[in-house]
Amino acid sequence: MLDFEIKYKDAMARIGTFKTPHGEVTTPNLMPVVHPGKQTIDVKKFGAEIVITNSYIIFKNEKLKEKALKDGVHELINFPRTIETDSGSFQLSVYGDIDITNEEVIEFQEAIGTDIGTSLDIPTAPYVKREEAEDDLKITIERAKEASKVRKNLLLNSVVQGSTFPDLREYCAKEISKFDADIYPIGAVVPLMEMYRYADLVDAVMYSMRGLPEDKPRHLMGAGHPMVFALAVAMGCDLFDSAAYILYANKDRFMMPDGTLKLENLIEMPCSCKICTEHNVDELKQMPQEQRAKLIAEHNLYISFAEIRRIRQAIVDGELMKLVELRCRSHPFLLDGLRRLQEYKDDMEKLNPSSKKSAFFYTGYESLSRSEVSKHIKKLENITPKSENLVILPHTSKPYSKHVNKEYIKKYTPKIPTFYSNTNNQDFQNSDIVIADIPFGIIPLALDEFYPLAQNESPSIPDENSKKFVRELIQSYTNKYENVLIHRKVIENYDLNGFKLMEKDLILPEAKVSDFIRLKEIADYQFGSGSGEILFGNNPEKITIEKSRKTGKIRHVYENDANIVNMRASDGFLVLSDLGAIRLHKHLKSPKMRVVVSEDSEPYAIKGKSVFNKFVLDCDENIRRNDEVLIVNKDDKLLACGKSLLSSYEIKDFNMGQAIKTRKIKNIEELI
Ligand code: GUN
Ligand code: ZN
Repeated sequence: MLDFEIKYKDAMARIGTFKTPHGEVTTPNLMPVVHPGKQTIDVKKFGAEIVITNSYIIFKNEKLKEKALKDGVHELINFPRTIETDSGSFQLSVYGDIDITNEEVIEFQEAIGTDIGTSLDIPTAPYVKREEAEDDLKITIERAKEASKVRKNLLLNSVVQGSTFPDLREYCAKEISKFDADIYPIGAVVPLMEMYRYADLVDAVMYSMRGLPEDKPRHLMGAGHPMVFALAVAMGCDLFDSAAYILYANKDRFMMPDGTLKLENLIEMPCSCKICTEHNVDELKQMPQEQRAKLIAEHNLYISFAEIRRIRQAIVDGELMKLVELRCRSHPFLLDGLRRLQEYKDDMEKLNPSSKKSAFFYTGYESLSRSEVSKHIKKLENITPKSENLVILPHTSKPYSKHVNKEYIKKYTPKIPTFYSNTNNQDFQNSDIVIADIPFGIIPLALDEFYPLAQNESPSIPDENSKKFVRELIQSYTNKYENVLIHRKVIENYDLNGFKLMEKDLILPEAKVSDFIRLKEIADYQFGSGSGEILFGNNPEKITIEKSRKTGKIRHVYENDANIVNMRASDGFLVLSDLGAIRLHKHLKSPKMRVVVSEDSEPYAIKGKSVFNKFVLDCDENIRRNDEVLIVNKDDKLLACGKSLLSSYEIKDFNMGQAIKTRKIKNIEELI
């Protein structure tokens, strides 16, 4: 069994590690294709931790076969670390027939000491008749099952097929997941990439993901161009393999993260890798073809590994979607892929962390489809109106509550009508105040420090899609209120109509939220409607709030001497302390916020030790990485609280690694 462990997450991407008999592999990663007979480039010097080679080519060549059986495949291709082998399926798809059975090819891979072997799946081409795809799939699934029985110590690839029928992809993924393979490649996507059908690629991958377990790496087979890596990683692909670095080089093509360059068109070397700095274009053009191809192949590998490193950094920083959008803008058909991905924002949300290190940078209207935006709109429902009056102000510098008065309230003079309304005679002294902005549409003032509502940037000149988005959100949000007052700039920014200019004098409330209201509203937004009252009650007198002397932000909240919550400075999230955990546990019905642990791990949880995935019996489906959780036993007795490191969907699938970073509740036995 392969133990995969997640270290960092962003979107559906994972930085993880797994071990094989020949070392540890970090994901996402690129497996250069090594030809068992004619490899000239030593991929070790590019930092390859894992390579892929073809067991069928070895099997068919007497000399290679003999050496592989005698010395092992690691010796044969001179690579001491992890080796994955393919089975001959690709040859099958090209030549229509091969002379090895599924059972034989598994046994052969085992015999030559491969780390990760592949069964003889049938790569069904895209756009075939459904019947053909179904017939092929039956065989692929049967062979996956057989391979799982035949293999002994070999780690096993089980390939998702199903052509361009999304439901068959999902079905296949679910079926083959029953046989406990170690890695799940997604197959037969090379033709889609060759045809630049990235929207269909996204469908094939995302439907496969719906059927695959979270606790195993996925390999996007034959994906070797760095320009698709970021998109594929964001969809949950962990491994790529590339023969492309050689194939492109043989045609004098330089791979770049944003496309491909032909040597004949170049006047300058395209990057700053070793090859590009040590050679110039004329030199390359005059070189014998073989020598030149080797150098270009090396450039291609440098660029591909650099992209993998950049993606990993983006995952750690929580900026992967920004990189995906950047990459997808480099080709209109990749942009199709990104736009198709918008249809899967619910899938993305299920695995996307709640809070990230970096701000949400808007790069174009596609950013509005990131799951953060739809999640915010859903969470707005947790906030109940406190008045029947609503005031909508334009955006300012963040946090809004610090700047908005100076700009929009105090400047207001009745001589210059600045406000529009749906009513004539309303006094707006007692109103809820929200800010209209891109990309989150409507931000209640109390949430102006909460991630990502404070941690985002968008251009000051709005595009039509964003205008429409904010306009529609305002229209639906104002339905909750009797009387609405909107600043002229909001009307202008988002082309709003249906509101009348207010000619009369207005006395407007200062746009300010008390700390008590702020806390309650954050609690409602973060934990669900009503949580503010559960945590802090209705009497501000009873609550003591300590603020940071440096930033003026709320830090600690007490009732008498008992700490209820603390506020995390980086994202404005409320972090439960003893009293907060006890109160939420008492009032929120199971399974809300719960992580249920097994009996044998109870004493560890009570002591504040991390909760491991294997001890989790169940958990609230809504939990995401960085969310606060309540750790309970199967009778819903509170044991501790903590911060989730994974999404509920991962916690349910994983049997390894940490699920929750636990915080001990002092004297828990006496308190509850
Ligand atoms: N290499 C590229 N595509 C495929 C595929 O669908 N199956 C296998 N086994 N190898 C591949
Ligand atoms: Zn280069």
